[in-house]
Amino acid sequence: MKHFINLKDIPAKDLRKIIVDAKKRKKLRKKLSTLEVDKGAPLKGKMLIQMFEKASSRTRISFYLAIKQLGGGTLTLRSNELHLGQGGESISDTAKILSTYGDGFMLRTDSDKKIEDFKKYLSIPLINGLSPSSHPTQVLSDVFTAEEIKKKPIAKLNICWIGDSNNVLDSLIAASVKFSFKLNIGCPKNFEPSKEVRAWVKKNNKRIFIYNDPKKAATGADVIFSDKVISLNDKVNKKKKIEQFKRFKIDKKLMSNAKKDCIFLHCLPRGSEVSDEVFLGEKSHVWQQALNRVHVQKSILLYCFGKLR
Ligand code: CP
Ligand code: NVA
Repeated sequence: MKHFINLKDIPAKDLRKIIVDAKKRKKLRKKLSTLEVDKGAPLKGKMLIQMFEKASSRTRISFYLAIKQLGGGTLTLRSNELHLGQGGESISDTAKILSTYGDGFMLRTDSDKKIEDFKKYLSIPLINGLSPSSHPTQVLSDVFTAEEIKKKPIAKLNICWIGDSNNVLDSLIAASVKFSFKLNIGCPKNFEPSKEVRAWVKKNNKRIFIYNDPKKAATGADVIFSDKVISLNDKVNKKKKIEQFKRFKIDKKLMSNAKKDCIFLHCLPRGSEVSDEVFLGEKSHVWQQALNRVHVQKSILLYCFGKLR
């Protein structure tokens, strides 16, 4: 049994194995319809319990499809429906109950500590479905998408992030170290990655560059990533933050600094950080990116259940 909590803690060879498996599985599904089960039903009889303390469209649906296509089932809970969420039950007791009824647990939460506490008491795999410090299933899937579209290992691509220093960027930074790709980050000075993240980067990799000028960050990029300036439950002055990000808006003009065949990716939901023209334009592959979460999460589930080929 393995957890999938933060890309930083997962060996690079395991991350690559997940991507290779997802590629093979995606190919084999070409003629299958949405709920048809993969040959061999590798997770037959298994139940994934998902719990969301924050909103989600893509993560909840893609995990539902992922476990179904592997022959298992899922139960989706909102934390306020549980005794835990109402303050009447401890994490340790809840974790033991989840481990009794289910085979895997996926949690989206506003608390990294909660993830750690669940990890301590669960005897089934735990998957981080987004926390303040990371969104690992999203970013591993994004590595898959970048390689699928550019038809190159990500280590040979210039990756650029224009946007907030949030959980998705933290996972992209971890991916840059694990997969050895160059990462340019474009953000306002006061929204740079935290000291801890920068210290970790310094220790592990020299191919991450921070620019306070979006044009410089985008120059020569093969892929430009972005995310909402205001994350779920962002506690900052939203109006002020959006104002500070105005000159980082990804529009056609900014894209023209990148390579001619540069693609645009965004995990969604979106806000004002990208123009409609770019988001809905020919360089954008956001719908394929969203769909790939199903394929990659299937291989993540197999990894967690010790069934990766
Ligand atoms: N990208 C992503 O995680 O979307 P949701 O918040 O809709 O799950
Ligand atoms: N950074 C965003 C990602 C949403 C998928 C958030 O945490 O809200």
